[in-house]
Amino acid sequence: MRTQFIAGNWKMNKTVSEAYDLAIALVSGLRAVRETEVALCPPFVSLTVVKSAIANTPIKLGAQNMHDQDKGAFTGEISPLMLAGLADYVILGHSERRQHFGESDAFINRKVHAALKHGLRPILCIGETLEQNERGETEAVLRRQVHEDLAGVAPADATRIVIAYEPIWAIGTGRAATANDAQARCAYVRQQLRGLFGSAADAMRIQYGGSVTAANAKEILSKPDVDGALVGGASLKAEEFIAIVQAAKANS
Ligand code: 13P
Repeated sequence: MRTQFIAGNWKMNKTVSEAYDLAIALVSGLRAVRETEVALCPPFVSLTVVKSAIANTPIKLGAQNMHDQDKGAFTGEISPLMLAGLADYVILGHSERRQHFGESDAFINRKVHAALKHGLRPILCIGETLEQNERGETEAVLRRQVHEDLAGVAPADATRIVIAYEPIWAIGTGRAATANDAQARCAYVRQQLRGLFGSAADAMRIQYGGSVTAANAKEILSKPDVDGALVGGASLKAEEFIAIVQAAKANS
């Protein structure tokens, strides 16, 4: 059995004090939740205040990105060494990093290795553009991203990795994938993971991301290969995010 995993990617939103307040509201609203794993991924500058807000709760902390090098002349970057011991998870390869900041699969692969080396659990984001989807290339894109981003990862490390399938056309558009499509894509990703890691793939969590809301979460999360959600916009409102976590719980 895989534990459902709901992570909130706050992206470039919330000041430090707003981030603290949101985390406090979530701690209070999620107090009774034990069956579902929850992680909050605020901007770097708010990691420490959110960490203090969630202390002594099961809620985990995630960063939204990192560099692959431990230190050096990389102005503006944050290293795995800095995140180790601070965050539990780190989102890698988000489509916004790929699209706006030119991150390649080779770079993302180096980040995955760096995260694992430092005890951070990657949430690796993959997903196709609208054009790729319309050309029928979705599976080819997912296959390539899985193989390139996870190249060289040992099967023993596989279960420390979470995959987030996020079709780019569904992100921030209000147009989520249907539950059946999310299931089909996540099942395809798991098949690829089996090819790489064998039976360990059955213990890996695969999240769906892209316009997940309190209204559509229950159906999407009821699907057997969808093990949680990576939530953007709806993670910025405490009530909405709490309702999504409760939707996961209702299915478990
Ligand atoms: P939205 O939930 O706002 O569509 O964002 C999804 C996402 O990109 C999470 O990483």
